[in-house]
Amino acid sequence: MTHDKWNSSLYDQKHSFVYEYGKDLLGLLNPQPGERILDVGCGTGHLTAQIAEAGATIIGLDSSAAMIEKAQAAYPQIEFVQADATNFSFAEPFDAVFSNAALHWVLQAEAAVKCMSQALKPGGRFVMECGGKGNIKNILTALNQATVELEQGEMERIWVFHSIGEYAPLLEKYGLEVNQAFLFDRPTKLEGEDGMLNWLRMFGTVRTQKLSDEMREQAFALANEKLREVQYIDGHWYADYRRLRIVARKL
Ligand code: BEZ
Repeated sequence: MTHDKWNSSLYDQKHSFVYEYGKDLLGLLNPQPGERILDVGCGTGHLTAQIAEAGATIIGLDSSAAMIEKAQAAYPQIEFVQADATNFSFAEPFDAVFSNAALHWVLQAEAAVKCMSQALKPGGRFVMECGGKGNIKNILTALNQATVELEQGEMERIWVFHSIGEYAPLLEKYGLEVNQAFLFDRPTKLEGEDGMLNWLRMFGTVRTQKLSDEMREQAFALANEKLREVQYIDGHWYADYRRLRIVARKL
């Protein structure tokens, strides 16, 4: 990617469910005062700030300059670092590495696991949740059908949704013991009548970047109509999310 894929304002205004759901994951992290914690894929930093509130020293890391800028402006007291999840290192190790709704963007999962494991102290926790195998199956099908029908071909692959059986061995390979792993459906309510269209505009733009703006809007409108049958339920749009959630420990 040469340009930044994120519209950090649309993300905050219409997709706050990303960090709202992440609060659940904070219970599993259970941050303690004085701990040093790394938040990988911190986005606009709202969960990072909640971890800081527990008294931990937290560093937020994200590859998007727009996200880091927004996070830093909102939380000037917290350290945010722009870096790629597949290529980072810190001089001082962490008590925990946390990641919410980010690692499915990292196609080179093994490189990210290697960096995250290296960043942990022995005994350090790894607590993550992201899209898991089967995530947004209906949305992807509709978007692919739309671009094919508009004679634009299939779009590039920019997300990876692992199963437990695919991700856990990577963690073990890099010295982590997997203590808990879940793959579960979490249909996620989208805001308003344009909920799905806004989701597509927020997250589908990068997947359709080879299209002209006009063609992309047509593809989104067509996908939106296809999705109405399956993802518009009792007057509300839902994204067909499936989550992979893992808690592990560095040996
Ligand atoms: C997700 O959180 O599952 C997700 C978000 C944006 C694009 C793809 C998946």
